[in-house]
Amino acid sequence: MRGILLAGGAGSRLYPLTLVASKQLQPVYDKPMVYYPLTNLIESGIREICLISTPADLPRFRELLGDGSRFGVRLEYREQARPDGIAQAFRIAADFVGDDPVVLILGDNLLLDSEPLRESVRRFAGGATVFGLSVPDPERYGVVELDSAGNPVALEEKPLNPRSEWAVPGIYLYDASVVEIARGMRPGPRGELEITDVNREYLRRGQLTVRRLPPGTLCLDAGTSSSLHEASVAVQKAEEARGIRIGCPELAAFRSGWITRETMAAVAAGMPRCEYRTHLEKSLG
Ligand code: G1P
Repeated sequence: MRGILLAGGAGSRLYPLTLVASKQLQPVYDKPMVYYPLTNLIESGIREICLISTPADLPRFRELLGDGSRFGVRLEYREQARPDGIAQAFRIAADFVGDDPVVLILGDNLLLDSEPLRESVRRFAGGATVFGLSVPDPERYGVVELDSAGNPVALEEKPLNPRSEWAVPGIYLYDASVVEIARGMRPGPRGELEITDVNREYLRRGQLTVRRLPPGTLCLDAGTSSSLHEASVAVQKAEEARGIRIGCPELAAFRSGWITRETMAAVAAGMPRCEYRTHLEKSLG
């Protein structure tokens, strides 16, 4: 399984923060936002990762994450020259995907527990798998309608009158045919290649699985100033409650056995004195 981390967009709802740094580089509590989805991918066993962002923002991501070796992964970078929609990621990264299945994760979706993704990656057997998250405001999302057995019957992008409470968060698993599906698509009403249309095509083919996230799953969106702040508070609380750092890619790689104790010690030693470094050093035991 490969991973695409999509970190594009203008971040206009976070203006003026995004005048100088892209949305996915903003702090969520004590780390840049992109650390969280990157950690989800690492914790799900994904080592081949392609990060897509705007030409203006890519250099900062490269500076932050490098070639991925610090995290035991191989990181490639691709440009999204125009914000033409989430599904455009599969056109941009077509050769990266090749014949492999792929997880697409949006850089501003914060899933504070990787277990649902890890489990879905392990069980993936073709077609598409998406998640369903019960939310009070489904009109802000792609929405899936389910039958009594939990099977999907319809999908809509940001419906004015949602027919269910099940939002589809920005974490998707696809087989390699997603590239051909994305290539054959046309932009939707807001002028973008909609990820909901990709999911609809899998539904039409009878190949869409929806996994409902358990109640209380912390899957946050950090796209507005208030939700960004709320995400920081949620991370702080969850870290205190669980006694661990969430969204720490070095630690995830170390726990997976992808980087050695020596590498993690060297990575920590290269940091200035800060809480993050202290945490890495403590985790070495
Ligand atoms: C996008 C997708 C939507 C999905 C959401 C998750 O919305 O279009 O289907 O539910 O991400 O965050 P956007 O970020 O473009 O508003």
